[in-house]
Amino acid sequence: MEEKKRIFSGVQPSGTITLGNYIGAIKNWVDLQNDYECIFAMMDMHTITVRQTPAELRKRTLELMALYIACGIDPEKSTLFIQSHNSAHAELAWVLNCYTYMGELQRMTQFKDKSSRHADNINAGLFTYPVLMASDILLYQTELVPVGKDQMQHIEICRDVAQRFNALYGDVFKIPEGLLVKSGAKIASLQEPTKKMSKSDPNPKGYISMMDDFNVMAKKIKSAVTDSEGVIEYRPDDEAKAGINNLLSIMAVMTDSTPEAVAREFSGQGYGTFKSAVAEAVVEGIKPIRAEYDRIIADKAYLQDIYKRGAESAARIANRTLKKVYKKVGFIVD
Ligand code: TYM
Repeated sequence: MEEKKRIFSGVQPSGTITLGNYIGAIKNWVDLQNDYECIFAMMDMHTITVRQTPAELRKRTLELMALYIACGIDPEKSTLFIQSHNSAHAELAWVLNCYTYMGELQRMTQFKDKSSRHADNINAGLFTYPVLMASDILLYQTELVPVGKDQMQHIEICRDVAQRFNALYGDVFKIPEGLLVKSGAKIASLQEPTKKMSKSDPNPKGYISMMDDFNVMAKKIKSAVTDSEGVIEYRPDDEAKAGINNLLSIMAVMTDSTPEAVAREFSGQGYGTFKSAVAEAVVEGIKPIRAEYDRIIADKAYLQDIYKRGAESAARIANRTLKKVYKKVGFIVD
C-alpha cells in the first residue's frame, strides 16, 4: 500500500480564533484528513513571543483543541497535540537557528509588523519565530502545510533552511510545500478590507470570532465596509472592490460555491440584501460547530486523553528526525 503523504499545520492559541483562521486553515484541514496523514498542533510555544497571561493561555490552548474537533478534525484520523509537550520542537529550533541568517529573518513581514506593534518587547524569540515554525514542519518530514497566505513567507524560509541543511548533510529533511485554499486564503478585515482579518485587530468589528454571539456576528457583517459603486461583482485585483470581494469569498466558502458564482447570483441586488445573506450563511455555518464545541469543551478528560496520545505519536516521529539531525551535526547520540 502506498504511504499517505504527511500534512502538518497549527494555529496559535493567542487570542480568539477568527473566521479567517477557520476559512484559511482549519476548514481546509478537515477536507484533507481522508487523503493525508495529518498532524495538527496547538502552537502554544509561538504565542509567548508576545506576553500572555499564563492562566488564559492554558485555557485558550484547550479551547483551541476543542474547536479543532468541533470543526471536524477527527482525533481518530489525525494526530492532535500541544506543541510544548514535544520538546523536539525547541531542540531542533536551536540547531536550525545556527543555519538561519539574520538577514533572512529581518525580511519577514510578520516580524516587522509585530515589532512595530510591540515596540517595548522586541525579543529574540519574536525574531527567530520562523525557525521554530520551520522546526515544527521539518520534524515530521511534512510534505504539505495547509495555511493562509500570510504564512507563506514562513514556509519559504523553512524550505530555504531545509535545503541549506540538506546540501550540507544529505537528505535529512523532506522539503515541504505550502497549500492554500482556492478562495479564502486571505480573508480581509471587515473594517479595512485591504488588510487581513486578524485576531490582534484592536477594533473587534474588523474580525469575526468563532466565539462571538450570533447576533454580533451578523451585525459585524452587516456593517462591513464596502464601496459606493453599489455593484456586486467579483474583481479580485481591484482594491476598490476589496470589501465586496471579501464578502463574496466568505459567502463562497460558507456555501460551497465560488466567488464568481455568488456574484452572479446576487448581481443587480443591493449591498444590504447581499450582506444579510452573507450574515445568515456565516451564522448557519458556525452554529453546529458551536454546539459541538460546547459539548467537547465540557469534557476535559476526553481532551486530555487525546492530547496525551497525540504527544506520544508526535514524539515518536519527531525524535527520529531529531536524532538524525544530531548525528549529522556531530552530537553523540547513543
Ligand atoms: P496563526 O495562528 O496566526 O493563524 C492560523 C492559521 O490561520 C490562517 N489565517 C488566515 N487565513 C485566511 N485569512 C486570514 N485573515 C487569516 N488569518 C490567519 C494562517 O495563515 C494560519 O494558517 N505561525 C503560525 C502558526 C504555526 C504554524 C506552524 C502553521 C506555527 N508553526 C507550522 C503551520 C505549520 C501562525 O501564527 O498562524
